Amino acid sequence: MSNKRISLTRYLVEQQRVHGHIPSQLRLLLEVVARACKSISQAVNKGDLGGVLGAATTENVQGEMQKQLDIIANEVLIEANEWGGHLAAMASEEMEGIYVVPNRYPQGEYLLLFDPLDGSSNIDVNVSIGTIFSVLRMPEDDRGVDEGDFLQAGHRQVAAGYCVYGPQTTLVLTVGDGVAMFTLDREQGSFVLTKEDVQIPPDTKEFAINMSNMRHWDAPVKRYVDECLAGKEGPRGKDFNMRWVASMVADVHRILTRGGIFMYPWDKREPEKPGKLRLMYEANPMGWLVEQAGGAATNGKQRILDIQPGKLHERVSVILGSKNEVERVTSYHTGL
Ligand code: AHG
Ligand code: MN
Ligand code: MN
Repeated sequence: MSNKRISLTRYLVEQQRVHGHIPSQLRLLLEVVARACKSISQAVNKGDLGGVLGAATTENVQGEMQKQLDIIANEVLIEANEWGGHLAAMASEEMEGIYVVPNRYPQGEYLLLFDPLDGSSNIDVNVSIGTIFSVLRMPEDDRGVDEGDFLQAGHRQVAAGYCVYGPQTTLVLTVGDGVAMFTLDREQGSFVLTKEDVQIPPDTKEFAINMSNMRHWDAPVKRYVDECLAGKEGPRGKDFNMRWVASMVADVHRILTRGGIFMYPWDKREPEKPGKLRLMYEANPMGWLVEQAGGAATNGKQRILDIQPGKLHERVSVILGSKNEVERVTSYHTGL
């Protein structure tokens, strides 16, 4: 049994050596992100015993009150990643501007974006939360890194993933060769490959959306959910189930595990905002993972990965998961 265990390290070495997918710098980067996730997992597990729960006294750039763990997770990721020589700069939900690797360290060719702690509202109530990350390459022939270098469409990501801190701590990763899942073995302190070639079934009977916003939705989203709610007697001819964890990591993890559709669409509460979720460190990495598992991800009108970001903290409407369902909701928007 034990010699069949494939660690994250071995998986990445094989991706580098056998498949030629990832250069050594990217392998190092992913190892470091995984190590940071292990520390965040430990802090999350300690909870009140570690004094890490509760609100901080600061707001982030999105105008949201930060939790202590938002700040801790952000610091863990920065400290782990700044000295290894693999990165030029980082960007995070919790920082207004980019964080350029200090010049006392060598600068690498990669850019790392993250949502250090996703599902902040679930921290204090002991419900699954996570870390989401996306890796881009510095544009070629670039002199000095700036925010503009980050503004690349999601299809240019070279790696993406998340780590969900739930009953198990699971790291989910793509480097463009399908989706693999690694479960943290707490005794050994290592991530072990537990699922490869993850596939999302194209059809589903499960949808995820915050129903309390129903009165604010646009007609196509309302139509889709109404049809699901009508069940067997309605136009879909089958009953649907609903789930909403309010941690995107946990909702997406369920979809990668057993299918489903996740929606956080534009709504009329704040009509000037394209949505609640952030394009570059929530929708893009999750969109790529879902596509790599045979699913789809759109903003209702176009593929998420084709959106050209205009700013670092840009928001976006998100519809992702089982392919046939995402195509249906998208067709209700486009009329095609
Ligand atoms: P974050 O905690 O990083 O700000 O993200 C929370 C996001 C996402 O994880 C989740 O799907 C959504 O917000 C939940 O929003 P509602 O509370 O509006 O349902
Ligand atoms: Mn988030
Ligand atoms: Mn967050």
